[in-house]
Amino acid sequence: MDYFPAFLDLKGKPCLLVGAGSVAARKATLLLAAGADLTVVALRIGASIADLAAHGRVKTVVREFRRTDLDGHWLVVAATNDTAVQQSVFAAASEAGVFCNSVDDSDNSSYITPAIVDRSPLVVAISTGGAAPVLARKIRSRIEEILPARIGRLAQLAHKWRDRVRHRLSTLLARRRFWEQVFDGRVASAVYAGRIDAAETLMSDLLHDSDNASSQGGEAWLVGAGPGDPGLLTLRALQIMQTADVILYDRLVSTQVLDLARRDADRISVGKTPGCRANSQEEINELLVSLVASGKRVCRLKGGDPFIFGRGGEEVEALVAAGLPYEVVPGITAAAGCAAYAGIPLTHRDVSQSVVLLTAHGKNSVDKLDWPSLARDRQTLAMYMAVHQFPTVMQELTRHGRSVNTPIAIIERGTTDQQRVTRGTLGQLNILAEANKFKAPAILIVGEVAALGAEDAWLDQENQPPQSAPGLEKSAIY
Ligand SMILES: C[S@@+](CC[C@H](N)C(=O)[O-])C[C@H]1O[C@@H](n2cnc3c(N)ncnc32)[C@H](O)[C@@H]1O
Repeated sequence: MDYFPAFLDLKGKPCLLVGAGSVAARKATLLLAAGADLTVVALRIGASIADLAAHGRVKTVVREFRRTDLDGHWLVVAATNDTAVQQSVFAAASEAGVFCNSVDDSDNSSYITPAIVDRSPLVVAISTGGAAPVLARKIRSRIEEILPARIGRLAQLAHKWRDRVRHRLSTLLARRRFWEQVFDGRVASAVYAGRIDAAETLMSDLLHDSDNASSQGGEAWLVGAGPGDPGLLTLRALQIMQTADVILYDRLVSTQVLDLARRDADRISVGKTPGCRANSQEEINELLVSLVASGKRVCRLKGGDPFIFGRGGEEVEALVAAGLPYEVVPGITAAAGCAAYAGIPLTHRDVSQSVVLLTAHGKNSVDKLDWPSLARDRQTLAMYMAVHQFPTVMQELTRHGRSVNTPIAIIERGTTDQQRVTRGTLGQLNILAEANKFKAPAILIVGEVAALGAEDAWLDQENQPPQSAPGLEKSAIY
């Protein structure tokens, strides 16, 4: 982070504006809106600033800027069209320890001002740290569009009721739930429609009933987080992540996805991390049940889809056995996400009419697979957790009739910015594994479709695979 974001309380604070043209006038309006006690120093005073001065809203000093003008001021804004003046204001302010912003000149500024959406008391500030101001303005327009015009009025109403709510609802959890009902429900709708009296009545009723609400039990959501790219989260997943009290997440859930969860939610990792023992499924079930039973709303966040090799079924059984409510939010499973990001269609009218999702995790599960059926032509196999089973996979598929020339693709860390795709044929699987030292998470795609999309894979790969191993055509890998 290049700049520390903060909102300043300027009410009654002496602030200095150097310059009195139209740009300075815009700055003056904002500073005055924040309650600053404003003095303007300039050689010439433009019409807008003169008007403000005539109404007693600013003091004006008509002469060149002097270092001593900074005395007693909290911050200074340099809004002249003279670079030398801007530089001297910044130099003097730096020496005096006064915050200085030179308009559109971050080199001569110790703070910069963001693009803002003002629905006071709600204010949204957006900054790219000066890197792309146009982008910041675009984002501001998007936010302007989605924020209801009267959302500031809603914030005022919340402020008015805050003490009463705090007094009535003793726990943080009960208060949080109450406010979520206010902001997501009929109170907000009434405010947005301009029916403030009705909103007050609804608020009062809600608070009156909230004793029951506060004693409500918790609930669980089993949420699919997709394979890594946060853009693949569903809207429902995002809503739940921003509502839940606790996020119970697996190792495969990416940090970019976790960053979207509510800031103050408790985050508990139940995945295996290097050097630490993984929680057993029984321990995870117990933790989930105990959190929900204690009244928490728990988002059980799982990589991909919770019901595809995600043991979501067992967690649901534990919740049902404990009589606790739950909801399942599907996610994009690794096969779909990784194949799409590698440009591989899992089915194709000409070469593959079916797709089988299977796991080859551990000797026991490999031995139980129906190899004769898996080795049939014109189908795609998407193998999860297969990295350590490549020799068996190659041997069994070819032994049961799948051609050694069948195309394959191994996708590691699919959909993330570290995605790596290695292509070859079934007969090359062992050599590729030797040469590339594939690391989990990785998925193996077997079938003619794996040869598609190699030329025009739309996702740039940052990490290219190592040199091809002896015995491999270099073109077999990209
Ligand atoms: C325990 S399973 C979980 C699958 C998950 N529930 C889903 O629907 O994708 C973990 C396996 O999924 C695959 N996988 C998950 N995310 C992946 C990714 N980003 N890239 C490649 N494979 C991935 C790997 O085979 C990994 O070993």
